[in-house]
Amino acid sequence: MDNEALMMTIAVLGGTGKEGKGLAYRWAKAGYQVLIGSRATEKAILAAAEIIELLDGAGSVVGMSNPEAAAQANIVVLTVPYAAHRDTLESVKDQMKGKLFIDVTVPLVPPKVTKVQMPAAGSAAQEAMQILGEEAEVVAAFQNISHEHLLGNGDVACDVLVTGTSRNARQEALKLVEAAGLTGWDAGPIENSVVVEGLTSVLININKQYGSTHAGIKITGAKNK
Ligand SMILES: NC(=O)c1ccc[n+]([C@@H]2O[C@H](COP(=O)([O-])OP(=O)(O)OC[C@H]3O[C@@H](n4cnc5c(N)ncnc54)[C@H](OP(=O)(O)O)[C@@H]3O)[C@@H](O)[C@H]2O)c1
Repeated sequence: MDNEALMMTIAVLGGTGKEGKGLAYRWAKAGYQVLIGSRATEKAILAAAEIIELLDGAGSVVGMSNPEAAAQANIVVLTVPYAAHRDTLESVKDQMKGKLFIDVTVPLVPPKVTKVQMPAAGSAAQEAMQILGEEAEVVAAFQNISHEHLLGNGDVACDVLVTGTSRNARQEALKLVEAAGLTGWDAGPIENSVVVEGLTSVLININKQYGSTHAGIKITGAKNK
C-alpha cells in the first residue's frame, strides 16, 4: 500500500451498481479510502459492506449519499446510467470545486445500445464539463472496461484510454488506472472522449454478434512504462 493511496479519498457516485462497485473494490484493495455514493444512504452502506466482505475486512469503504461522498473526497468518480448523468451531477455540483472528476458514463440510449448516439455537447464527459464549470478538472476513463472483469483479481484483457481537460488530470487518473490493476494510456484532450465513449457501443455490438460478454481493446505498437 503506498502513501499516496493512504492520503487519497475516492468517491464513487452510483458505486452501488455494477461498474462502480467493481472499481471501488479494486481501489479499496489498493489502499485508497473509498466512499460509495448513492441516492439512498442505506443502499450505499450495504454496498460498502459487500465490498469489505470481499476484501476479508481489509479495506476502508464507507457508504453515504452522493453529495456527502463528493464533499468528503479528493477525487470523484461517476458510474451511473446516462439517463441519470445530468441529475446526479447537478446534485453534487456544489461539492466539486477544485476536485478531479472522472466520468465513466457512456451515453447509451436504450434500446439501441449497439449504436453510437452522442449528446449535443459531444460526449458525456464534455456535458459534465458544461454542468460542473471550469472549477473541476474532468477526465473520461474506464468506459470500455466491462464490470465482469472488476470484482475479481485477475488480469483484465482491455486497456483504459484516458482523456481529460489537462495533462496533469490525465496523469492523476492514470495512477488510479494502475492502482486498479489495469493498463492505461494518455489518450489526449477531453474532446477525444467522443471516440472512447463511442467505442463502448462497438464492443457491445461485438459481444452481441460473437456471443461474448466482455470484448475489450488493447493498444499495440507502443510502450507505456
Ligand atoms: N456495466 C458495465 O460493464 C459498464 C462498463 C463500462 C462503462 N459502464 C458505464 O458505467 C455507468 C454505470 O453502469 P452500471 O452498469 O454500473 O449501471 P447500473 O448498475 O445500472 O447503475 C449504477 C448506479 O446508478 C444509479 N442509478 C441507476 N438508475 C438511476 C437513475 N435513473 N437515476 C439516478 N441514479 C440511477 C444507481 O445507484 P443508486 O440507486 O444507489 O443511486 C445504480 O446502482 C453507465 O454509464 C455505463 O454505461 C458500464
